Amino acid sequence: MIDLARLPKAELHLHIEGTFEPELIFAIAQRNGVKLKYPSVEALRAAYEFTDLQSFLDIYYEGMNVLRSERDYYELATAYLRRAGAQGVRHAEIFFDPQAHTDRGVAFETVIEGLTQALTDARDALGVSSHLIMCFLRDLSAQSAMETLERALPYRDRIVAVGLDSAEIGNPPSKFQAVFDRARAEGFLTVAHAGEEGGPEYIWEALDLLRVSRVDHGVRSLEDPKLVDRLLRQRIPLTVCPLSNVKLRVVADLREHPLKKMLDAGLVATVNSDDPAYFGGYVGENFVQTAAALGLSDAEIVTLARNSIEASFIDDATKRAYLDEIEEAAANAATG
Ligand code: ADE
Ligand code: ZN
Repeated sequence: MIDLARLPKAELHLHIEGTFEPELIFAIAQRNGVKLKYPSVEALRAAYEFTDLQSFLDIYYEGMNVLRSERDYYELATAYLRRAGAQGVRHAEIFFDPQAHTDRGVAFETVIEGLTQALTDARDALGVSSHLIMCFLRDLSAQSAMETLERALPYRDRIVAVGLDSAEIGNPPSKFQAVFDRARAEGFLTVAHAGEEGGPEYIWEALDLLRVSRVDHGVRSLEDPKLVDRLLRQRIPLTVCPLSNVKLRVVADLREHPLKKMLDAGLVATVNSDDPAYFGGYVGENFVQTAAALGLSDAEIVTLARNSIEASFIDDATKRAYLDEIEEAAANAATG
């Protein structure tokens, strides 16, 4: 049997603010003298009952409100990287939402310095490599996104790509075409959340207008056979987040999740945790629970791990090394 939780893999869809565990929220709130709406860790956790994406986003933005100093961002990212490393994550591509911090008066520099120091230290201490992906909040204006892009330019070498997240419906990729044009001209790769709550037309726009290298979620792709053809032809990876989809009621039950059908269609699907502190599991739990619910074979699980490395933005030599580790783990599982 494959050790699902520790199989070498990359995590490609992970919001660092979504790894903020209630215990750490309370500890940092106390240090910063911030009063929380909830009286205890247990009361906060008990509020994690979501009916859709917006009901989650409301509580997600509230939690991150306690983050103020470089040290806070450092502790947040370090806690994630330790947990991910223990679950076989060799490489992480980590989203952050600068506008959710700068709009509260935290300097862009504070956020990026705290995060990058954590990433550098985790590479040295844990052997986990990582990249940052800067997301624009799509429910804010295109002008605010453009200003955020301009603020990031001095840190160009620390950010591999730009992305698009937050409330999808009513905020299509087309709203950000000019921002993404500029980002690509400045040398950033592009990704976007699309087809989570929004339909296949959001995925078409992400491909055609934002020229994304990957689609984040994309679980509604199968509704449009022409779109599936396009994703196959270009081998566009999809960063799927099964436990997130259940918690936000994108799917009714994990057993009804389209991941297996996506693999059967030949799509380059990967498994990720999205906002693990809120959705009941890190990437290891996503692998374990999804494999059980959908009856995935060892070969399918290995394909998911391989896809995650192939879909990442690391160089070919590093990819090769991580892929070799996966083959070794698969061979050991077959003989052991
Ligand atoms: N921000 C954090 N998690 C998100 C998700 N699942 N969809 C859109 N925006 C997000
Ligand atoms: Zn997400």
